[in-house]
Amino acid sequence: MEHPIKDFSHLIGKLDGMSVNQIEAHLGLYAGYVKKLNEIETKLQNADRALTNYSYGEYSELKRREAVAFNGAYLHQYYFENLTAETTTRSAELEGALVDSFGSIDAYLTDLKASATATPGWVVTTKSEVDGKLHNYMMFEHHIGFPVRQKIVLALDCWEHAFMIDYGTKKTDYLETFLRNVDWNVMNERLK
Ligand SMILES: [Fe+2]
Repeated sequence: MEHPIKDFSHLIGKLDGMSVNQIEAHLGLYAGYVKKLNEIETKLQNADRALTNYSYGEYSELKRREAVAFNGAYLHQYYFENLTAETTTRSAELEGALVDSFGSIDAYLTDLKASATATPGWVVTTKSEVDGKLHNYMMFEHHIGFPVRQKIVLALDCWEHAFMIDYGTKKTDYLETFLRNVDWNVMNERLK
């Protein structure tokens, strides 16, 4: 299938603390991942399986980068989907799940920011099929470190490209900005 580039232009210039330049640059990178995903899938259709090789081979390289482009495309979808200029609130169900899983809302937010500070990749809040609780998991690049049996309910882009234009190296300020713009309604819905 041809993976679509979703239109998130409604966010440009609307988010508190995220400039037009920052969001436009980020949306451009997102579009690049979708294009690369489509390119990889197209090339894989004709790559010679007989030449697969651990060290190097066209097919093997395409397979090695397939998950990078795939997650690069779809993690960004999660991320832009869970941002909004509107004021939203957490549902009682979401707050109950966060308190049950982390002890308090503050403890969840503290853990989210601590995880985000420690990775140059992604942090995702998930609902685990294993214990039914919410967890924050840290990822590197787009594809390394994500545990299986998880449903993503929030995606937080921690790559420097997500904040360098507006915040330089002040990642802490970006994390507060992200939290001001989280669409809690989306998180409420994803949890259901
Ligand atoms: Fe990003």
